[in-house]
Amino acid sequence: MNIGILGGTGKEGSGLAYRWALAGHNVTIGSRDAARAAASAAELNQLLNGKATVRGGDNGAAADADVIVLTVPFAAQLASAESVATKLAGKIFVDVTVPLAPPKVDRVQLPNGESAVVALQRKLGPQVKVVSAFQNVSATHLKEPGHTVDCDVLVCGDDAAAREVVVGLAHDAGLNAWHAGVLANSIAAEALTSVLIAINKRYKVAGSGIRITGVPAK
Ligand SMILES: NC(=O)c1ccc[n+]([C@@H]2O[C@H](COP(=O)([O-])OP(=O)(O)OC[C@H]3O[C@@H](n4cnc5c(N)ncnc54)[C@H](OP(=O)(O)O)[C@@H]3O)[C@@H](O)[C@H]2O)c1
Repeated sequence: MNIGILGGTGKEGSGLAYRWALAGHNVTIGSRDAARAAASAAELNQLLNGKATVRGGDNGAAADADVIVLTVPFAAQLASAESVATKLAGKIFVDVTVPLAPPKVDRVQLPNGESAVVALQRKLGPQVKVVSAFQNVSATHLKEPGHTVDCDVLVCGDDAAAREVVVGLAHDAGLNAWHAGVLANSIAAEALTSVLIAINKRYKVAGSGIRITGVPAK
């Protein structure tokens, strides 16, 4: 699959890029600055050691992909998506951003009390298949291919086929993932991240996670 990651120079985006490239996907890292993306891609390629090649470009180039993933700080969520909006019609747009409100990121503070990704879908319009995922997955171990990330992925979206694609991408990244219902349900995943940050602080760990229980393994 052709995957473009807006803000892919950051911790979460580059970690996902690494895992998807290892799984055989064609990944382009996007940035506000194409040179920064190229440098970030070069670093990943060194880590990939010839097993795969990641490309770098500006966010516009990353948005030429079939599946576009948004991994920027919440303050930049809307502007980053809108900057490539003309390229998103009919495509799957995976929002990973968490509406954290620094400095108290260990406290749930959802903007206007609603899911930030629902607000984003409203802005982008129904022609964009917005899916929410990966908010609870810490970047800490993503670039260690042998490491089993101890966190499930809740995948929310109104388009079931688009959700299925993202569940598959999570599996390709070595993660356990669940269809977690409509996009509005993403409010739970978005809020959970602050709970996990509070747990990280209290128990002095880098990346606590969540597990869904009670569903028999297939
Ligand atoms: N880190 C984690 O463990 C983790 C886990 C789950 C979810 N998340 C969520 O994933 C998102 C990204 O997290 P991160 O830790 O990867 O963030 P980050 O490293 O701080 O930033 C990611 C990228 O966003 C771009 N960016 C930064 N400020 C921007 C701005 N004002 N306007 C446009 N682009 C900007 C930068 O790319 P360029 O400068 O190259 O454009 C940066 O490399 C956040 O919403 C976060 O809450 C993070």
